[in-house]
Amino acid sequence: MSDSFFPDSFLWGAATAAYQIEGSPLADGAGPSIWQRFSHTPGRMTNGDTGDVACDHYNLYKQDVALMSTIGLNAYRFSISWSRILPEGRGRVNQQGLDFYRRLTDELLHAGITPMATLYHWDLPAALDDRGGWLNRDVAEWFAEYAGVCYRALDDRVKLWATLNEPWVVTDGGYLHGALAPGHRNLFETPIASHNLLRAHGHAVEAYRALGRNEIGIVVNLEPKVSASESEEDLAATRRADAYMNRQYLDPVFFGRYPEEMAEMFGEAWPEFPADDFAVISAPIDFTGINYYKRGVTKYDPSVIVERATRVQPTGIYTETGWEVYPEALCDLLLWFRARYGAQMPIYITENGAAFYDPPTALGDVVDDPLRVHYLREHLGAVGRAREKGVDVRGYFAWSLLDNLEWSLGFTKRFGIIHVDYATQKRTLKKSALFYRDVIRNGGVSSP
Ligand code: FCB
Repeated sequence: MSDSFFPDSFLWGAATAAYQIEGSPLADGAGPSIWQRFSHTPGRMTNGDTGDVACDHYNLYKQDVALMSTIGLNAYRFSISWSRILPEGRGRVNQQGLDFYRRLTDELLHAGITPMATLYHWDLPAALDDRGGWLNRDVAEWFAEYAGVCYRALDDRVKLWATLNEPWVVTDGGYLHGALAPGHRNLFETPIASHNLLRAHGHAVEAYRALGRNEIGIVVNLEPKVSASESEEDLAATRRADAYMNRQYLDPVFFGRYPEEMAEMFGEAWPEFPADDFAVISAPIDFTGINYYKRGVTKYDPSVIVERATRVQPTGIYTETGWEVYPEALCDLLLWFRARYGAQMPIYITENGAAFYDPPTALGDVVDDPLRVHYLREHLGAVGRAREKGVDVRGYFAWSLLDNLEWSLGFTKRFGIIHVDYATQKRTLKKSALFYRDVIRNGGVSSP
């Protein structure tokens, strides 16, 4: 593969999220989020870990931007904490919260790094959860109000805005299975939360057209579903799993309707949604952010709620989170996306990366992480192949810049290309960061 498949304008980035790295969640007038509450609820988090300190990025952001420069990143995807900006979720604006993101984006621009800001990476203000959170239809207006505050304060600095990060995980983890905040387990709530997330997205896009001058999109996590066999049962299960995870959010955004499998999967828990909602949900966007980690080999399993499908673990390489390493599927996924949603839609790979074991304390100047180097090389190769086939992928963001709080798994899973020693906050580049630096310098990955 030739390097030329990555143009000079390609964004070479890394991604993070507020609650996973910032620490100081209640500093300078911020209000609590649902993750603040969830992580402080006994039994919810591995080892009782919380985001109280995390990577202390709230204080160490300058050092972290300097590390981005060392790697040669020309883009950085971060998320804004809603309850830093609006401590009660709506109404009163906390200027000190905005000031943190102004300082951060100033620092980025000064270093020649393009900021991409995600408005919602899972940390709903707790005060809004008290009013029903994503189950309350009013949340769409609350979100648009918050988004408007961010656009007014930061659109002169932020070039790319993402409304939601991974709405599927918000609802499947937060409302159906309870592993993520707010920790509900309720089949009937799940489609309502999904629908309100989509409405919130649409309202925030509409608000952007009035207030913003740059670009806005949505970030979804996609997992190509492959049937474990040719049996009719497995093929049908694969279609359901694909609808549930991959098409549930994109079809409404692009086509103004849900996949037909949804009503059958949810049965009596699937509500009648007002037809007018879909015009809002399908407001035109400027790009789609795709998070890719793995594929899903799927077989029929009637004991599984909603999908009636389960994952098969084929022989292969697995990460520390038990995710299969399968880079070819990223290229296939990009081709599928283009075929289904159109060649005109620019794409960013907004997350891609892997947790592998790294020691808690770095021994020496660099942490050797050959499995992560391999993961990045192979996935960047897949992005290059998709570009070669003409897919309009405009950037790639490694997950993650730093080792960080992997939600309810706490600090046990390290995804960073930069190692963090949580006892001292010392940062150490991993070999994967040096590998990525070379990729960026060379303008792409070469064939092995
Ligand atoms: C994604 C999340 C991100 C991180 C990675 C590993 O689902 O968006 O915050 O947890 O997985």
